[in-house]
Amino acid sequence: MAVQWYPGHMAKAKREVTEKLKQIDVVIEIVDARIPLSSRNPMIEELISHKPRLVLLNKSDLADPETTKAWQEAFSDEFTSTLTIDAQHGKGIKQIPQEVKKLASVLFAKWERKGINPRAVRTLILGIPNVGKSTVINKLAGKKIAIIGDKPGVTKKQQWIKVGKEMELLDTPGILWPKFEEEAVGYRLALTGAVKEDLLDFQDMAVFLLRFMTDTYPEVLKSRYDLSHIPEDMVELFDAIGRRRGCLVSGGEVDYDRTAEIVFRDFRQGLFGRVSLEHPGDKQI
Ligand code: G4P
Repeated sequence: MAVQWYPGHMAKAKREVTEKLKQIDVVIEIVDARIPLSSRNPMIEELISHKPRLVLLNKSDLADPETTKAWQEAFSDEFTSTLTIDAQHGKGIKQIPQEVKKLASVLFAKWERKGINPRAVRTLILGIPNVGKSTVINKLAGKKIAIIGDKPGVTKKQQWIKVGKEMELLDTPGILWPKFEEEAVGYRLALTGAVKEDLLDFQDMAVFLLRFMTDTYPEVLKSRYDLSHIPEDMVELFDAIGRRRGCLVSGGEVDYDRTAEIVFRDFRQGLFGRVSLEHPGDKQI
């Protein structure tokens, strides 16, 4: 699970990733398809520099398919390919070596010009905690690899895993930290499980989520809590949900803390269905 990041941790993680990147031809960056911006490291461009990159929009089984499609287009450029995957169920994994090979074609041409014998393309998985790095490594390896948890600084002997004939993968991922500056980013990370929920207030998170659902997925919200309409006033909305879910204290008042926690847990458990919390067209991103 998520580590607490301090400046020292970040500096160390940056050093470790920079060191690993020296051996790497193509970078595989994993983001959570529900929050592709909030689940990215703020320094990623600087770290990767001009290396070709494959962005994996993982956990697509939990994200809105239309929005994921829009993200796929938004991310792709000359040096960046994008794949939508669901690593837990192994969907999209087979396409990874093919995309890596395509991205490495410039490299192959360079080797040929210089008379260097072609070798397997060396790759590294990069991402913030909980985006699915270990799951992807295990799926690509076809077996369970002992992966040191989300603890930057804990080292083990690194090994290359062969993936087909033309790709090699470092068996330890590069672990990066998420952005922390904006409150909304913290809420999105907590709602999707990337940071510990106890760092944030349930009522704040529930208000954030209910506002977002009201604006973006009102029908989903109505059907989840069996509401005939969504009250504009947040207290009334809490009242309606709290009553539906029997969150009452003595005297018949709604227990707002419990209601907030229920809303939060419903989202975390995927009970709202496939919801993306960020869209490339959003102004607030
Ligand atoms: P990390 O190495 O980047 O930290 O992530 P890891 O692979 O450990 O994955 C974090 C959690 O996300 C795991 O759940 C994993 O099963 C889940 N996960 C990974 N890929 C996908 C995906 O494509 N779809 C879904 N739905 N889940 C995915 P876990 O450790 O069992 O935690 P939890 O299931 O108790 O939340």
